[in-house]
Amino acid sequence: MMEIEGKDRVDWSHTAEQLLRHWQRSGVTHLPVPQTPLPESIASWPKLQTSSTVPAAAPSSTSPKPSVAEPAVPQADLASTLDHLPKQSLVLDSVLADSTWSLSDLSENGRAEALKALNEEVVACRKCTDIACRRTQTVFGIGPLRPKLVMFGEAPGAEEDRAGEPFVGPAGQLLDRILVASGLARDQVYIMNTLKCRPPNNRTPTDIEMENCRPFFERQLDILQPEYIVCWGAVAARAILKTSDSIGRLRGRFHTYKQAKVMITYHPAYLLRTPEAKRLTWEDMKMLMRELGIPIRSTGTQS
Ligand code: URA
Ligand code: URA
Repeated sequence: MMEIEGKDRVDWSHTAEQLLRHWQRSGVTHLPVPQTPLPESIASWPKLQTSSTVPAAAPSSTSPKPSVAEPAVPQADLASTLDHLPKQSLVLDSVLADSTWSLSDLSENGRAEALKALNEEVVACRKCTDIACRRTQTVFGIGPLRPKLVMFGEAPGAEEDRAGEPFVGPAGQLLDRILVASGLARDQVYIMNTLKCRPPNNRTPTDIEMENCRPFFERQLDILQPEYIVCWGAVAARAILKTSDSIGRLRGRFHTYKQAKVMITYHPAYLLRTPEAKRLTWEDMKMLMRELGIPIRSTGTQS
């Protein structure tokens, strides 16, 4: 069988998740299980390796401890796995459990308290030692307690690290202009980042750093429960959609994160370096404005 390597590798988990979301939106809750025998080509897929088929490693004389036997995993192949599934249907609800907000809708007071408690955890966090020892302070997020929209960025830069507020440097000023041109004021939206700390020299956050911060930004979103999340740049898109697809492939349509619609566009810092891409972000903002029923008057961000 041909190995698919590198960037051509298909991210099936993402594809499967999108398919499940599509079914969910279409009201599908149960899937029929095929009653007919599996095609030979599927039934003859290699058997799963189990501990009973893998020879145990010979005890090494240098090994200080005796090897402990792995618990036996039942021998299984795809066909017998399917045999064990309920015959009528596969219930999708449990698979889709993470597609709704993990918290109930809190009152404004409840939200304020939950965010305050979360911020205290963020302030105390030292998981990314390399970053934590260099930060001036953590940068949590700012905005209304019931935001319709969340602006989701990458990580604080130098100005944000100094001010303790996201998007206040040059990229933030462009973000403000984009928002105004789109009929949105900065204080109408909630602004936050994937990372709560500034990576040294503004380097791109590592996957480990993103995963360290994931419980924080996921809980923050669970508390805020926005209708829309705008991901600015590839890191934000990767954090929210768990995909490494490029902005070019992700923009131009809405995605979903739990119960929010997600729009992907270029990062304002990228737009500052690549002004010709501003036209594309303006197209994206117009898609959002049409969705929100905001009249499109301006010709976009020329500055
Ligand atoms: N870039 C970001 O992604 N976030 C900020 O807060 C500032 C710059
Ligand atoms: N690459 C990024 O990381 N962000 C962009 O906005 C565009 C390309």
